[in-house]
Amino acid sequence: MLHFYRICSTFTLQNSPLMSVAKKDYKRITTKSLIEMKTNGEKISMLTAYDYTMAKIVDTAGVDVILVGDSASNVMAGHETTLPITLDQMIYHASSVVRAIERALVVVDLPFGSYQSDSKEALRSSIRIMKESGGHAVKLEGGREIKDSIKKILNAGIPVMGHLGLTPQSIYKFGTYTVRAKEEEEAEKLLEDAQLLEKLGCFALVLEKIPAHLATKVAQSISIPVIGIGAGGGVDGQVLVIHDMLGMNNEFSPRFLRRYLDLYDQMTKAIGNYVADVKSKDFPNASEQY
Ligand code: KIV
Repeated sequence: MLHFYRICSTFTLQNSPLMSVAKKDYKRITTKSLIEMKTNGEKISMLTAYDYTMAKIVDTAGVDVILVGDSASNVMAGHETTLPITLDQMIYHASSVVRAIERALVVVDLPFGSYQSDSKEALRSSIRIMKESGGHAVKLEGGREIKDSIKKILNAGIPVMGHLGLTPQSIYKFGTYTVRAKEEEEAEKLLEDAQLLEKLGCFALVLEKIPAHLATKVAQSISIPVIGIGAGGGVDGQVLVIHDMLGMNNEFSPRFLRRYLDLYDQMTKAIGNYVADVKSKDFPNASEQY
């Protein structure tokens, strides 16, 4: 019942910084809204979130798409790569996010090992995500190699977002996190894969860390929205990992990252002040007790 109320309740951008830049006041973002935004030339905003409290802030600020990324493996669990996170853990993160949102479309990453074996496994994992988390769509890394899986998931009525370029689940194959598709052969394959993903029926595509001119070419050659991370401004939207753009993590400074806050320093100072207040017996004072 609560969920039904949430779907029907209206969301206004009155308190959102996006009020002045959003072309249409969407009450609820759907896969169709994103395609409409591309058609209308409105850029799509996407951020990651992995928990209820953060997702509520991100949704209230007017972000169009919340990605429950497998980057949770890095920023939430402290792993070096995205490979260790499990399907159960992704479902836990995604269900926390879904409980918080009123407007954004929630896309959930299929984690490494939950779709690569065969298309039946891919479908089973996607169904678990949709049923157990309440997410609205899934994201998979790869092009032609996973086309059967994408088809099967789409045939079950589950929206699919593609992900090409730097695909972190293949980091041990690449051996490095540097820019992808700089050479013509890889760029050509990426363009063909993007066109294939559109043809299969994906509703959007993430392009990670590729040359800006290639990303622009891809965005212009397909009608589904292309959302970039380290792919320049010629695409249809942008995505960042929330911990990075809020400056919660001061060890990661790629060129594409814009930090909007320096939360690592601000939080460290605030927590240091709390420690000092406890030690000095300044906290709690007379008005902070019963
Ligand atoms: O997992 C993630 O956060 C992602 C983004 C980097 C696009 O896939």
